[in-house]
Amino acid sequence: MTKVLVLDDEANLRKVLAAMLRREGYDVTVAENGEQGLAEFHKNGADIVVTDLVMPKVGGMEVLRSVNAANPDVPVIIITAHGTVDSAVEAIKAGAFDYITKPFEQSELSAVIAKASKAHESARRSVRPDIKARTAIIGESPLIQDVYKIIDKVADTPSTVLITGESGTGKELIATALHGASSRRDKPFIKINCAAIPHNLIESELFGYERGAFTGAVTSKPGRFELADGGSLFLDEIGEIPVEMQVKLLRALQEGEFERVGGIKTTRVDVRLIAATNQDLQAEIEGGRFRKDLYYRLAVVPIVLPALRERRSDIPMLVRYFVDKYNRRLNKRIEGITDDALALLQAYAWPGNIRELENLIERVLLFADGPLITVKDLPEPIRQGDTSPALSPAGPPAVEAHTGETGLKDIIRMKAAELEKDLITKALEETGGNVTRAAKLLQISRKSLQTKMKEFGLRDSAPEGKDEGASKDEGPDE
Ligand SMILES: Nc1ncnc2c1ncn2[C@@H]1O[C@H](COP(=O)(O)OP(=O)(O)OP(=O)(O)O)[C@@H](O)[C@H]1O
Ligand SMILES: [Mg+2]
Repeated sequence: MTKVLVLDDEANLRKVLAAMLRREGYDVTVAENGEQGLAEFHKNGADIVVTDLVMPKVGGMEVLRSVNAANPDVPVIIITAHGTVDSAVEAIKAGAFDYITKPFEQSELSAVIAKASKAHESARRSVRPDIKARTAIIGESPLIQDVYKIIDKVADTPSTVLITGESGTGKELIATALHGASSRRDKPFIKINCAAIPHNLIESELFGYERGAFTGAVTSKPGRFELADGGSLFLDEIGEIPVEMQVKLLRALQEGEFERVGGIKTTRVDVRLIAATNQDLQAEIEGGRFRKDLYYRLAVVPIVLPALRERRSDIPMLVRYFVDKYNRRLNKRIEGITDDALALLQAYAWPGNIRELENLIERVLLFADGPLITVKDLPEPIRQGDTSPALSPAGPPAVEAHTGETGLKDIIRMKAAELEKDLITKALEETGGNVTRAAKLLQISRKSLQTKMKEFGLRDSAPEGKDEGASKDEGPDE
């Protein structure tokens, strides 16, 4: 039920408003003044706030500011007396959703509230990385705090940011937060995973193409740079861009202009570029696979994300967060984790970093019958206190440990998954993280390798088609 908070210092009006809204089926809470109303809002929240403009001490404008600051998704409706329409307009400018003037009809009030309710609903559902992304970055360890500081400093600049870090350390999350914390937040956030696009298509993906540019180009199409105009473009796995393309990318970054494939017209865009990689670009440069000039152009602001094992103090908090998240998603009621089990998680090396931890919690919640996650719910390498960053080879199956609640099929599945993960990790190590080569080595398709990698928390699966390749950001789920 939509919760409406009504603030008015006039007892009669308060009563009338509350009665009207209750009749419409809203859940109404009333407050006699600004202080009381804000206290209620900050304690219990509300979906919509209706406040009188003129109240002693804390007035409607202050209520508006405070509510907006706490949650910009909550529409605030201001009630004004006849003579004060000017201040109502001021209030709208300051972010009020709408205003109504006294005296008003029930129908007028219902219309405004219904509109606000709809707006609130869609704001809640919609992509608002500006509010959500930042709050969904969990962690307080010194290393991650350094990262927050950089985000705060550079989010609202046009400078290119290069995010590096091992797989699963949160590079994409940070990129999303950067966009969300910038004034470009209402403009597109376009992502493109360079590893997922065949080399010969990268140019047309980035810059678009004109009709007839190549066989199959029956219409012209804008590229990701054009789509991101005014907003941010996130080039994930930048290390996978072929050297020939790097020159063109450099020019687009330096001049802010480019031509579509097969086109002659120069297009200008205003795009903030964020790049990410888990490769060692210095080594790529030395090996002649990455251009130095492009590197310097990208790494204007470098952000180095710590591996999870370098910020173990954040593990309890992350566990709490993911337990809550997957309780909600899987409809479970796990309350937490035993101290022993948590100690093991803190000791483990986490080669797949936060994604591995997240996937683990999801898996554990699926199987655990609670109320607490215990040592026996954890997979073998963690229970054995495996602290080497690389996964240890799959030892003899520790079947005894799993019998009890778990059936033979489950054990086999778990063991098979462990072995599979192990082989994939090795293949990736051997090929320096090159997905295409690792897939060849494993004799599976690149696509299914990517699916597996995602499943095991080794790395994001690549987007499939072109259109999914660069979705507008969807923000962290909540
Ligand atoms: N600090 C964090 N707090 C909460 N969740 C996090 C945090 N960092 C990462 N995650 C979660 O971990 C998962 C992996 O993060 P992300 O995809 O950003 O990693 P990545 O560095 O881009 O990995 P890869 O190199 O494999 O693409 C995501 O589900 C993300 O939401
Ligand atoms: Mg990523």
